[in-house]
Amino acid sequence: MSEPISRSIDPLQRVAELLAPVFASIAGESADPVVRPSDRADAQVNGALPLAKALGRNPREVAEEIIASGALDGVCSSVEVAGPGFVNLVFSDDFLSGLAADAARHERLGLATSDPRTVVIDYSAPNVAKEMHVGHLRSTVIGDALARLHLFAGDKVIRENHIGDWGRPFGMLIEHLLDLGEDVAAAGLGQGDLDGFYKQANVKFSESEEFQERSRERVVALQGGDPDTAALWRRLVAMSTEYFNTVYSKLGVLLNDDDLAGESMYQPGMQATIDRLGAAGLLEESDGASVVFPPGFTNRDGEPLPLIIRARTGGFNYATSDLTCVIDRVERLGADLMLYVVGAPQQQHLDMVFAVARMAGWLPEGVDAVHVAFGNVLGEDRKMLRSRSGDSVKLVDLLDEAIERAGALVAEKNPDLDDDERAAVARAVGIGAVKYADLSTDRVRDYVFDWDRMLSFDGNTAPYLQYAHARIRSIFRRAGVDPSSVDPSAISLVEPAERELALRILATPSVIAEATSSQSPHRLCTHLFDLAQAFTGFYEHCPVLKVDEPVRGSRLALCDLTARTLSTGLDLLGIEAPERM
Ligand code: ARG
Repeated sequence: MSEPISRSIDPLQRVAELLAPVFASIAGESADPVVRPSDRADAQVNGALPLAKALGRNPREVAEEIIASGALDGVCSSVEVAGPGFVNLVFSDDFLSGLAADAARHERLGLATSDPRTVVIDYSAPNVAKEMHVGHLRSTVIGDALARLHLFAGDKVIRENHIGDWGRPFGMLIEHLLDLGEDVAAAGLGQGDLDGFYKQANVKFSESEEFQERSRERVVALQGGDPDTAALWRRLVAMSTEYFNTVYSKLGVLLNDDDLAGESMYQPGMQATIDRLGAAGLLEESDGASVVFPPGFTNRDGEPLPLIIRARTGGFNYATSDLTCVIDRVERLGADLMLYVVGAPQQQHLDMVFAVARMAGWLPEGVDAVHVAFGNVLGEDRKMLRSRSGDSVKLVDLLDEAIERAGALVAEKNPDLDDDERAAVARAVGIGAVKYADLSTDRVRDYVFDWDRMLSFDGNTAPYLQYAHARIRSIFRRAGVDPSSVDPSAISLVEPAERELALRILATPSVIAEATSSQSPHRLCTHLFDLAQAFTGFYEHCPVLKVDEPVRGSRLALCDLTARTLSTGLDLLGIEAPERM
């Protein structure tokens, strides 16, 4: 069922493929037919205009020549020159029905595979002994969707959770751990009181010179590889990652312990990174620090901005570890594409790291590094989301509340569900709503965290899409038909609402490809919302169960294809699609 598909299932793309040789023969070289959706017809070919212009010919004449080629015979029921030289297309019922049947036969809905790439995705990346905040929620949810999208495209995906597990604060954190007693600390951290732990350590550090002294010695011991210190550090990291895992499992993301690739992992390679920068002649001294000046970066006064590789005090820092990390991802893991799902405030840091890596030759031609930036989560007051007490919001609390609120809604909507199923649906809807709210707006923008809106069964929300899916599944239950028994060949599209729905479904692989290549899950969200609305239009106009064969079989197959498209789309966003709600 999942053989690779060699021709596009998207009718617009298929037309572009069919017209490419025609354009090439007119142009004498390859030329893009540019096929777009249109209000007047099913699609419009726009490429005749630029082609005619380039050849100094009359555009309508070129359009006529394209039509006369016969390349679209059988594909279209009407082909007309429109306006200054567009070609309006109406697809034939048979052509669309055939494509829909092909999509229905294909496990991945007709997505064509391209050359698989090795994609490293850096996401989530919370900090040890610190609370995960909503920024980490965004990184986790967006990164996970991108991981799923690339897997679906057939890429080799390497997830890396670049946790903050190294640096000067660890001296103080370890000393605080010893003061509290490991088991007491473990109990607190196990409850998820990470912020409390960090704050207490900080207070002690600012109040006690003796504690400061111990902390400094401890950092030296940690960096020197002292075994007892290393064991304490490992304990501290383990307590935090255990807590992160509870959040991940609640969220239902792919991340697990195998994906941990924290800052500490790159410590052993840092000296080599500096040596290589030195050998390449890139390292300069500035105020006693070792730095690189990537061209094009300046500070507020217009002076060249350095990327600090080794501080005056001799310590390596964040940039050094990120550079070492680039080397590892490219040279050891063989990355073709690296995605850094990190908040917008780290833009300059990452841009400079990428620039220096390019200068040093660590990002060769054909290897891309992309900062997948995202905006803030705001409260209803449009300020940074905070809890009522003014603290930053704890992620787990947020997720628990989502599940609880969804549970109440589900109980109201469908009182017949038994307790287990209601709990499972509540989880799917609650977590789905939080994820979808995050994914459905353009990631670079801020969004307002609004319970009522994200949990609404109307509008561009997870519950709306999940409900649309469950409703289609209920048609099959009522009919007593097993969806896996429907015959894709039965699909015969005639009614406008059927064609409308099929056009949406068939655009899905292109939308998925676009959402993937632009790291924009919101495009898939918008598409699924349009699709669910097209289904509503279809269901209003076209009876499914109360109609005779062969129309009934055709419509059931179309229903099943819609449901599968919705559940596949939601799955790519990391959202479950329950069978009933
Ligand atoms: N731990 C960092 C933070 O919480 C994010 C790390 C992002 N990844 C990276 N390679 N720098 O802000």
